[in-house]
Amino acid sequence: MTQTYQIALLPGDGIGPEIIGVTVYILNAVGQQYGLQFEFSQALIGGAAIDETGDPLPQETLDTCRRSDAVLLAAIGGYKWDNLPRRQRPETGLLGLRAGLELFANLRPAQILPQLVDSSTLKREVVEGVDIMVVRELTGGVYFGEPKGIFAAETGEQRGVNTMAYSDHEIDRIAKVAFETAQKRNQRLCSVDKANVLEVSQLWRDRVNALASSYPDIELSHMYVDNAAMQLVRAPKQFDTIVTGNLFGDILSDAAAMLTGSIGMLPSASIGDGNPGVFEPVHGSAPDIAGEDKANPLAQVLSAAMMLRYGLDEPAAADKLEKAVFQVLDQGYRTGDIMSEGMTYVGCQGMGDALLKAL
Ligand code: IPM
Ligand code: MG
Repeated sequence: MTQTYQIALLPGDGIGPEIIGVTVYILNAVGQQYGLQFEFSQALIGGAAIDETGDPLPQETLDTCRRSDAVLLAAIGGYKWDNLPRRQRPETGLLGLRAGLELFANLRPAQILPQLVDSSTLKREVVEGVDIMVVRELTGGVYFGEPKGIFAAETGEQRGVNTMAYSDHEIDRIAKVAFETAQKRNQRLCSVDKANVLEVSQLWRDRVNALASSYPDIELSHMYVDNAAMQLVRAPKQFDTIVTGNLFGDILSDAAAMLTGSIGMLPSASIGDGNPGVFEPVHGSAPDIAGEDKANPLAQVLSAAMMLRYGLDEPAAADKLEKAVFQVLDQGYRTGDIMSEGMTYVGCQGMGDALLKAL
């Protein structure tokens, strides 16, 4: 029996179309083995959408995503659009997608693969064995809080304003996802905030603490964000699952990603209640190498694996895809970002071909 899934494909900008192109044929190959058929609907987002329609998130794209079972997104942005007014920037399209689908939970794993330990800028003994999941709140906090804007102040100066705000229910639902994520991992959860200074963080801490009694199996700790940034590079193995707000999660997930050597390896999942999830690499659109067949497609492929696991509930196919990634690394295939001595250099297509063989 064949199971059919509708997948919205959002290639976006820069290296996006290349890495998503590879991922589509890999997905089809793994689908064939597990009786899964994917029907892809491609839609515009980011700079590509601005060029075509003037809008970084056309309504049609949001509709296509809502109709699908899951959304596979590559990356958005580029120098070309950096000076447009904010509502016309690629990033605004991405934020609109997150808000439009109410994807309040962003899961960003940072796991160091044994094959790539030496790609990390940190010492082997510091990073070997690192396996962290950052659970980032994605539709609230200072990214979305009101008031926001650049206003004329009474002094005649301009005043830029954003507001970091969280309500009870926003904290509770992300904390729940984090506790449940920790349950499936090593039962340790560290909530990161700035409760020594910020009221919004005090509420965050109080709510997370209040929920803890429902999860007696979880060892909960709290850490201030500045200390967390330091601990991540000092002794990252102390962390299992981290839960934090939107801005702190943005920053800490980049730091966690870099422990693994290449941000080009890391997938992410954004999920909400009921709507389809969005699965995308943590890295950006890398406009400097776009169209040169140099991009590393593995984060996109691993995002497709997260889509199979968390979005479509097809764990066997997800396992298979992840195994194929480990296998090509074992075989010594490396794109430029993870290249080291004695390994076999491949481009984006070459990595795709190796994956196909591994499957
Ligand atoms: C991320 C990115 C985005 C964010 C940008 C592109 C809007 O940095 O997904 O981490 O800040 O959330
Ligand atoms: Mg970021």
